[in-house]
Amino acid sequence: MGENYDPEEFDPSNYEFIQDPYEWYSALRKKDPVHFVESTGSFWITRYNDVSAALSGGRFGNHSVLSGSGEPVLDEARQIWSRTMLYSDPPDHTRLRSLVNKAFIPRVVENLRPNILAISSNLMETIDSSDRFDLMEAYAAPFPALVIAELLGVDPSFRERFKDWSNDIIKGMDGTLPSDDLRKSQNASLALASYFTELIEEKKRRPGMDLVSQLIDAREKDSMLDPVELLGMCLLLLVAGHETTTNLIGNGFYSLLRDRSKMIELDQDRSLMHSAIEEMLRFESPVQRISRTAFEEVNFAGIEIHRGSVISAVVGSANRDPEKFPAPQSLNLRRKENEHLAFGKGIHFCLGSPLARLEASIAFNALLDGFHGARLEGKAEWNRNTVMRGLKKLEISL
Ligand code: HEM
Repeated sequence: MGENYDPEEFDPSNYEFIQDPYEWYSALRKKDPVHFVESTGSFWITRYNDVSAALSGGRFGNHSVLSGSGEPVLDEARQIWSRTMLYSDPPDHTRLRSLVNKAFIPRVVENLRPNILAISSNLMETIDSSDRFDLMEAYAAPFPALVIAELLGVDPSFRERFKDWSNDIIKGMDGTLPSDDLRKSQNASLALASYFTELIEEKKRRPGMDLVSQLIDAREKDSMLDPVELLGMCLLLLVAGHETTTNLIGNGFYSLLRDRSKMIELDQDRSLMHSAIEEMLRFESPVQRISRTAFEEVNFAGIEIHRGSVISAVVGSANRDPEKFPAPQSLNLRRKENEHLAFGKGIHFCLGSPLARLEASIAFNALLDGFHGARLEGKAEWNRNTVMRGLKKLEISL
């Protein structure tokens, strides 16, 4: 793969790359595994061992990764994000993560199963499958949004607005986009922040059993969290728990629709669900690249990366590296050793992974029950984003 691709011509803003990045990844791994991309201002690192080392070694940090427009009002959004655990380095990162860690451990998440099952079956009941329909809109997008809204204590009727804000915020994470999109993204962060500011006041007056109320309690008891950090935590959990899981469901079901034999294999042997979900995470990873800034001079594949330079650890490529995974370009629902990097690695390893896995198993069981015989209609359309890989639409019919 990738033989006819010249890294000098690599342009990630090209829609052909978005549609099928894997030939390009293959070419980059072989010919230029540490490739500087002008439009993202970062070195794209594409081999599994290098990506894994970059994410876990402590030689790179997250805090200075954020880019902004320089306009004062919009910088406000950047300031909130820069105080979240995702964009913090130790010791702030350690403190912020420890505050919510307990809520996301597998045993606690397992208690959410009945509620998540109810959310899923309510949604399935609303789907009119008599004609072709868009699975992203009908199920993959609302399902994780409703789950995270319930966990945080957010009114589910705000879902549509959250979806728009969250989409705009995520668009802005892609450094290859025009500055208008960046501005839109920062405005969406501010709108979301203002929603949460009101919600926090309301929860102070009338606490509930939700996570926002627990965080307010932690803040008041131990002064562990300042007001901007509390706001940032709410924003991060809402956005992180939303689009990524939507894309795991969308990308995974799309992969099954493209290969009927896999759909039948999983439908008929649900004990494969666990390894199938790991394989879907590897095969069409919802997060394709993770940015970091070098704390010190680092050498990858003979290339010097200077202190302060930004890298993109391309997990979407690492997860298809033949040096790590036998037959990486095929979807093997029974794959045994599957040390994929779809949830990242190291101290920022996805906090929500137990929740994402639970949601995915509930979603795929429901979708197989309802739509195992579905057909793909038309051409799948991917979102124009080189960080988050997901479908804009997934039209199917029964
Ligand atoms: C399939 C779904 C998901 C995928 C593929 C995913 C992927 C990731 C990745 C790659 C990272 C590491 C980012 C980095 O190293 O800079 C991350 C971090 C994070 N994820 Fe997820 N995620 C998913 C679902 C969720 C869910 C459901 C939540 C729950 C709210 C969540 C919350 C977080 C948080 C809070 C972090 C930051 C952790 C830290 O900085 O220490 N994620 N996720």
